[in-house]
Amino acid sequence: MTSTAHPNLDPYVTKAENNSVSPHEKIKDLHEIVKSVETGMLTTRASTGYMHSRAMVPTAPQSDTQTSLIFFANKASHKFDEIENDAHVNVSFSNTKTTSWASYAGIAKISQDKELIKKHWHTGLSAWFGDLKDGVHKGNENDPRVAIIEVIPDEIRYWVATKGAVSRALETGINAVTGGVSVPGELRTITSSEIQLTQGLHNK
Ligand SMILES: Cc1cc2nc3c(=O)[nH]c(=O)nc-3n(C[C@H](O)[C@H](O)[C@H](O)COP(=O)(O)O)c2cc1C
Repeated sequence: MTSTAHPNLDPYVTKAENNSVSPHEKIKDLHEIVKSVETGMLTTRASTGYMHSRAMVPTAPQSDTQTSLIFFANKASHKFDEIENDAHVNVSFSNTKTTSWASYAGIAKISQDKELIKKHWHTGLSAWFGDLKDGVHKGNENDPRVAIIEVIPDEIRYWVATKGAVSRALETGINAVTGGVSVPGELRTITSSEIQLTQGLHNK
C-alpha cells in the first residue's frame, strides 16, 4: 500500500507490522479469520462516487493458497450496476470477539459461467433468490439471475490477534497510563507480488 504515513508518528502500525511471515503462512492465517467471521462486507462504488457496502458470505476456499473470494448474488441487484461502473471493490471481515480483521482490495469479476456456478453452488444459496413460480426463476443453479462475483485481490491487509481478551485489556490499560502503544497482534500485508506468485503456483 502506498502511504505517506511516517513510522515515528504512527508507532502502533510500526510495532504491529510483521512482514517476515511466508506468503503461505499468511494465507493460512487469513483463511482462519475469514472462516471465523463467515460474513464479509462487500463495498462497491456507485456512479455518484458514494460507496455502498452490504453483507455477503463467500464460498469456502478450494485450496490452501486461494486468495480470491467467490460470492453468489442476484444479477438483478444494485451491486452489479456499481461493479460495472467501477470494478474496484473492497471486502472486509471483522471478528469482534478476537479483534482480528481482514481487508481485501481488488477487482470484481462478474461471471455467469455454468461450470463455475455448478462448481461452487450449494442449496443454501437459494435463499438469496427465491422461487418466483414462473418455471424459470426457481432460485436454483439454473436460474438466469444467478451470478458469481469473484473478487481478485491486488492487496490484502489483515490484523491477527495474538493475545486473548484479558491480556489485551491489561496491556491497553497499562499503556493508556504509561503512554506506551498496545500491540496485541500482528498487522500483515499480502502484497500484489505475493498474490501473483501464490496464485501462479495455485493455477498450475
Ligand atoms: C448475513 C448475510 C449474508 C448475506 N450474504 C449474501 C450473499 O452471499 N449474496 C447475496 O447476494 N446477498 C447476500 N446477503 C444480502 C445482501 O447483504 C444484500 O442485502 C443484497 O445482496 C442486496 O444488495 P444490493 O442491493 O446492495 O445489491 C446477505 C445478507 C446477510 C444479512
